[in-house]
Amino acid sequence: MSQKPETPKTRHVVSINDLTNTEIMSIFGEAEAYLKELGEHGAAYRIARSANVASSCILATLFYEPSTRTRLSFESAMARLGGSNITSADPRTSSAAKGETLADSVRVISNYADLMVIRHPRDGAARLAAEYSSIPVINGGDGSHEHPTQTLCDLFTLKQKNKKLKDLTIAISGDLKGSRTIHSFVYALARFEANIALMPAEGMELPAHVDARLREEFNRQRGQLDDDASIDAWYIAPDEPHQLSLIPKPDLRDTDLRTREKIEKIAQLIHFMYVTRFQKERWDEQKKHNYPKIDAKFLEAPRYSKTSVLHPLPRVDELDLSFDTDRRAVYFQQAAYGVPVRMALISMLLGLRKQSLQKFPGGFERSENLIYDQPINLGIRCQNRNCITDDEHEKQQARNKFYVLSSKLTDSVKLRCVYCETDMVEQESQPFIVAQKSKGSYSRGLTHLLSIGPEKMKDFVIFGGEADAKRLGLHCKEVPQYGGRSRGQKSSSH
Ligand code: NCD
Repeated sequence: MSQKPETPKTRHVVSINDLTNTEIMSIFGEAEAYLKELGEHGAAYRIARSANVASSCILATLFYEPSTRTRLSFESAMARLGGSNITSADPRTSSAAKGETLADSVRVISNYADLMVIRHPRDGAARLAAEYSSIPVINGGDGSHEHPTQTLCDLFTLKQKNKKLKDLTIAISGDLKGSRTIHSFVYALARFEANIALMPAEGMELPAHVDARLREEFNRQRGQLDDDASIDAWYIAPDEPHQLSLIPKPDLRDTDLRTREKIEKIAQLIHFMYVTRFQKERWDEQKKHNYPKIDAKFLEAPRYSKTSVLHPLPRVDELDLSFDTDRRAVYFQQAAYGVPVRMALISMLLGLRKQSLQKFPGGFERSENLIYDQPINLGIRCQNRNCITDDEHEKQQARNKFYVLSSKLTDSVKLRCVYCETDMVEQESQPFIVAQKSKGSYSRGLTHLLSIGPEKMKDFVIFGGEADAKRLGLHCKEVPQYGGRSRGQKSSSH
């Protein structure tokens, strides 16, 4: 696949970061317009009538995992636009049961519909699908990676309640590791400059790569208050616009005085509480320890007196049923917004009305990243065992593809899987190896990768360790350093 700037191509929404902030606001403007035109009198969140703008269009919903809201609200949205739906909602009754790969199914469906929504248990499945699709692919949830359209509904709910997103304070509780809705949501909150307060269940903290992105790419400063046991970590605006939070994870408690004072101030008023269930399907162990339970008692604290409570649903037992009648409960309204928001996204992707999403290669800051791209059987593999590239069946049509990024936090070069967006972890004792095929030689560490440039990248293969390179008969070569240092190298000042 080419790494050169490409001609305009089909837009896909796999990550919330495939949409710019301006595009997200345009989607919301369009959703508000649909609510105004087709909404129910007296229930401003509910679409009650249909338009006829998509009468020649078909939406395909391809679901390999259970769903109620996502699939039905997409189908309702398409029906309200006057379009048609075709559905494969049960992998046991589709060709997947006969062994058809996701990539093949997608290529076939591309000729049956005008856009498709995919839900899959594997992280990165939606990105793989998008590589094979000639029509827009919308990610309806892929493993624990992302769920961008849920985030559109969540943000739209915040905006309907509060008008502006900047400086809002949102607490997020539950399974922060397994919940894909949270991963898309925190990226968006950081991008719109909201403050985030995390309340993970024990052992279910945000994945390290999501935390790193919040601090490095979306410019949030992380800190903690020792005397506030219910909130584990805060992500707030830094003092300087581009100041990085350099506090490494184990030292989170060393939050400096100034940051602590800022957090104390912000912590006095929580505008929204986002509750999530234990994602039991993503964990081997089915026991959950100290899982936060949100009920009227918990929300008695003065800082929650005006807090609107959100939940992507389904709920299990983490959000008390008796809370439903509390004026702060907005989760059913949030689910209702799924229809106008998805109507807006569909109509903008298909260019059905004046507003449409620009067709351009890549989305939010994506096209600037250098991509390493080799066949799946050559060199380093994604370390995430739930990545689509680790599925014996599907991996035949995937590649070893990684963004090559420079990490400002650790002053190093890192690799991020293009499919599941997990950052690869390099062991100090076993640095990654970069080999040049044409020369038959290799060097340790990734530092010089960034100086290679996209045109020459094909000549290089990255290995997870030296033994793999040696096995292929490659020999070690010392390579001049081009500034910076790799994670495997110690700085002389240490
Ligand atoms: C979420 C999902 O599928 O990730 N559901 C939804 O789409 N609203 C949340 C969940 O399943 O917990």
